[in-house]
Amino acid sequence: MKKRIEILMLSLFMTATIAGQNKNAPVNYDEGKVPTFELPDPLKCENGESVSTIKQWEKVRRHEIMKLYSEQVYGVTPKQTGIKMKHELVSSNHEAMGGLATSKQVRFTFTGKNGATHQALLLLYIPNNTQGRVPVIVSYNFHGNQTTTFDNEVIYSPSHEIMKSLGSDNWGRGEQASRWSYELALQRGYAIATMSYSDICPDSPELCEYGIPSLLQGYNINSRGEHEWGAIGIWAWGYSRIADYLEKEKRIDKKRMVVLGHSRIGKTALWAGVQDSRFKVVISNDSGCGGAALSKRVFGENIAIITASFPHWFCTAFNVYSENEAALPFDQHELLSLVAPRHVYVASAEDDQWADPRGEYLSAYYTGSVYRLYNMQGLPSDAQPAVNQPQHYDVGYHIRTGGHDVKNYDWQCYLDFCDKVFKKL
Ligand code: GCU
Repeated sequence: MKKRIEILMLSLFMTATIAGQNKNAPVNYDEGKVPTFELPDPLKCENGESVSTIKQWEKVRRHEIMKLYSEQVYGVTPKQTGIKMKHELVSSNHEAMGGLATSKQVRFTFTGKNGATHQALLLLYIPNNTQGRVPVIVSYNFHGNQTTTFDNEVIYSPSHEIMKSLGSDNWGRGEQASRWSYELALQRGYAIATMSYSDICPDSPELCEYGIPSLLQGYNINSRGEHEWGAIGIWAWGYSRIADYLEKEKRIDKKRMVVLGHSRIGKTALWAGVQDSRFKVVISNDSGCGGAALSKRVFGENIAIITASFPHWFCTAFNVYSENEAALPFDQHELLSLVAPRHVYVASAEDDQWADPRGEYLSAYYTGSVYRLYNMQGLPSDAQPAVNQPQHYDVGYHIRTGGHDVKNYDWQCYLDFCDKVFKKL
């Protein structure tokens, strides 16, 4: 008996170390130390068959890759959450931004099957300079709608109090305004919809009782089954709920919805865009590890570090690949390929080595074979373009000068790319 307990203890210890997330895992910034690896072929089915038709891709292979990402990375999105949603217009101003836009603030009330309710606040700017339906860029903000602009009419996002109570700062008005090129987008005829991602699920395992998780009966982010969704999955679900609302908004063209996200929200935008085909362009800004960057390069942030630092983001099955990227049966170019034949855009920043710009580029490049299946054009070469030289094919990419951020330059590139895509519709 004692022996059995010892064996059990040993095996528990081993599982803990194998699946051990490790904040102190070494970080590689040396191209010479990138391990040799072979990328899985997105067009090779699990039974070894090669995909040569769109039908085979859509009926077989796409599902296989989707299942891997659901069960091993972000967790399975429940088919039915039982959550109901109501919307209420809190304010509207036809002369926002000096007349450039009509602004609307819309309260989302979510009610769970358990009877609990939760509220989130959407901020929508619609351009006044054009009539009729317009394309929309949907993008979460980090610290509340009020941080994206100096516009005094913008109400503080409901999650700001609870996040501040954890010591999270930068929640003041306009604090992240430099990341939001509202005027540029509006002048170019695009609407923008934003919400704090913390309104959907606070970005902290300590707050798992708050937000959408509180409406899910029996769900606890800290004691989930290994394939159950985590925060990225829940945020991605929230993106789709914003799309539900926008589809009903008179001035929005539901055929021209774009999802954009920076960093952890870039990882989220990719996962949302993969699952929800209403997003015709899916944009990842500096999303790095667990986003656009190839994991097998183990360059910059790696799986051991990310799963240790943010245990609530991914499903816990992902921990198995901590310090073991070589064992991954997939890589992030395959995630991007799930967007085809819609459009995916990956952007990097030169000084953001933590996010592995080269790994982000290669991922976008290697998604090309799936685009070619649709007779579409991926990126032309595995050589990363020079900084500030955007490449806009059916897949888009740019690397700009500077660090981990969203700049006006990024917005310009995204708008150029979207214009090109939407002209073809
Ligand atoms: C950290 C994290 C990244 C993430 C980033 C962000 O740096 O390690 O994975 O993308 O935060 O969201 O800003």
